[in-house]
Amino acid sequence: MAAGSSTPREEVVSEATTSNPFFARLWTFLSNHETDEIKRMRTENLAGLTGRVLEIGAGTGTNFSYYPPTVTEVIAMEPERLLAPQARKAAETAPVPVKVTEATVEAFLSESQGEVFDAVVCSLVLCSVDDPDALLRQLFSLVRPGGQLRFLEHVASGGVRGRLQKIADATIWPRLMGNCHTHRDTQASIVAAGFTVDGSRREPALPAWFPTPVAEYTIGRATKPAA
Ligand SMILES: C[S@@+](CC[C@H](N)C(=O)[O-])C[C@H]1O[C@@H](n2cnc3c(N)ncnc32)[C@H](O)[C@@H]1O
Repeated sequence: MAAGSSTPREEVVSEATTSNPFFARLWTFLSNHETDEIKRMRTENLAGLTGRVLEIGAGTGTNFSYYPPTVTEVIAMEPERLLAPQARKAAETAPVPVKVTEATVEAFLSESQGEVFDAVVCSLVLCSVDDPDALLRQLFSLVRPGGQLRFLEHVASGGVRGRLQKIADATIWPRLMGNCHTHRDTQASIVAAGFTVDGSRREPALPAWFPTPVAEYTIGRATKPAA
């Protein structure tokens, strides 16, 4: 059953936007040139969702076209000034109703008491928020008991690649890439927030020879235990 709504979305629009023009232009290019593999993972990540969905950091709105018709409403946040208008445009042709809010998820959450969602979708975004552990605890409280967190995130590697990720995260990468951090153990944060991971797996993000600190994706489903 879909979760109830108690706060009109128009009331939670916030001034909390971000401006990373280099990252925004690069992401616009990348999101318009995705491989069949990442498209397949996006489809899988959203398959079977129902009811009200909260999507964090929608980018150009790439996920929108993959939502199944069983979703009744998507509330999507995108704070980046060059990306939010593209997400709004993508929302116009989405197969389900999508409302784009130009705010950080932190600003949205601070004003969204009483909101309940059937699911939260995080794709390639938990690397970029300031405090993923605190955010995931807040998201946990917004999901109805039995509801899900769907995640498709790039995660920390081990070995030499892991050491390079730590150097990248401490230097130029977050500054260039809209606060992206490559060496996060996102699944551990999801579990620490209280979710039960029902299934997840890792896949290479790009060919091993490709010179980027982003190496592996994790895709999975986590459930908020029923009360
Ligand atoms: C790499 S992009 C991924 C976009 C989209 N989720 C996708 O799968 O294509 C990361 C996005 O997260 C957004 N983001 C970063 N920090 C955020 C925050 N605190 N609140 C909401 N969105 C955020 C960025 O603006 C950016 O659009």
